[in-house]
Amino acid sequence: MSRKILLEHIDVPGINTFDTYRKMGGYRSVEKALKTMSPDDVVEEVKKSGMRGRGGAGFPTGMKWSFLAKPVGVPRYLVCNADESEPGTFKDRYLMEKIPHALIEGMITSSYALGANTSYIYIRGEYFYVLRILEKAIAEAYANGFLGKNILGSGYDLDLYVHPGAGAYICGEETALLESLEGKRGNPRVKPPFPAIAGLYACPTVVNNVETIAAIAPIVNMGGDEYAKIGIGRSTGTKLISASGHINNPGIYEIELGLPVEEFIYSDKYCGGIKNGKKLKAVVAGGSSVPILPANLILKTANNEERLMSYESLSDGGFVSGTMLGSGGFVVYDEDSCIVRNTWNFARFYHHESCGQCSPCREGTGWMEKVLHRIEYGHGKLSDIDLLVEVSKKIEGNTICPLGDAAAWPVASAIRHFREEFEWHIKEATLSQTRNFGLLAAHEALVK
Ligand SMILES: Cc1cc2nc3c(=O)[nH]c(=O)nc-3n(C[C@H](O)[C@H](O)[C@H](O)COP(=O)(O)O)c2cc1C
Repeated sequence: MSRKILLEHIDVPGINTFDTYRKMGGYRSVEKALKTMSPDDVVEEVKKSGMRGRGGAGFPTGMKWSFLAKPVGVPRYLVCNADESEPGTFKDRYLMEKIPHALIEGMITSSYALGANTSYIYIRGEYFYVLRILEKAIAEAYANGFLGKNILGSGYDLDLYVHPGAGAYICGEETALLESLEGKRGNPRVKPPFPAIAGLYACPTVVNNVETIAAIAPIVNMGGDEYAKIGIGRSTGTKLISASGHINNPGIYEIELGLPVEEFIYSDKYCGGIKNGKKLKAVVAGGSSVPILPANLILKTANNEERLMSYESLSDGGFVSGTMLGSGGFVVYDEDSCIVRNTWNFARFYHHESCGQCSPCREGTGWMEKVLHRIEYGHGKLSDIDLLVEVSKKIEGNTICPLGDAAAWPVASAIRHFREEFEWHIKEATLSQTRNFGLLAAHEALVK
């Protein structure tokens, strides 16, 4: 269960340079694909691998690629989504910073498969230093004949560009990203048409996450069938997990999908247990957008089965007793954590990041933040709890893009699983203030 594919060579000194990466077997997938496979052969291997997109929604990558329209004489584009702004998720940064050539190699092999001759990496604005690392790696790939005209004498041409965003979470949503890449305000588009038909500059486009694209090289090297043997069921392969919160060993872990959640939290190979020997209270398993689960439900499903780190197992029980693997942002909360404060914090983020295009999201995220703020600061009413549930329901499913759902789910799930804690905050305002801010801050907040 501890197989490493993407991070196999992470500790090799100089792995960020072309020469060392190449010495460790890098760019083999480009040679194999361009010299011995047709673009369709590559798509077929990715389909066979069963790999699901690592950006959050978990849509099968090979199937997504096969939807790409191929009108004659119209360019096609591959765009890598390196916007990574989901709170709790920081795996793409690590991969790009430490092994930039893994992404460049994946971009070349994937672009060949999709018939793209110009491809882009859209990177989060705050990752400016990583942009520099990628630009250096791209220059090395050009210098060594892996980018540009007639790559490896195959007749295939590819130009690759890195484009920085300006620090907006919404630009991680694929159609907002495309708008932004075209130089416009990053507002999500109404779908259909989907990017596979009309994406960048109204041309057929595939948008994939950094980790998804980096995994294409090993899939092509080992073959889709071999890759599909790794993992469990329809959750094939390995996944990068960003682990943070009250754990002894925060960081990035590459896990084989199917690892028991309990082992991930408590084993010294991974999170190393809860800090200071405290008890586990809750986990947000897939980035701030996914429903929070209390300790009993994250370790075992409602049917008392061992919960696994896989798409299926984490979502077992739906939103009543399950959650999602999402982007793999695994945030752990100990027994002293305040769920109300955490929910308010998330709500504040979504309110700030809502693009404002759809009224339910623009207004609803603001109301949720305000109501949670007054509960947290000792001015809540018991009716506020149901009001929050109502507002979250009015947002969910009623917006152009899933940012609305992403804002609604953390609030709805926190109330579903921790309603007494919200009630306690309202009924025992002074006590809750004392706990969360210490006496002085509590006093200040109460006299406001
Ligand atoms: C508000 C919002 C933010 C998103 N942010 C990201 C992101 O930072 N990185 C990412 O890969 N996908 C993000 N997504 C998902 C993308 O829209 C898209 O599904 C993903 O890039 C597809 O890649 P994959 O098929 O390789 O998973 C976001 C979606 C939403 C609604």
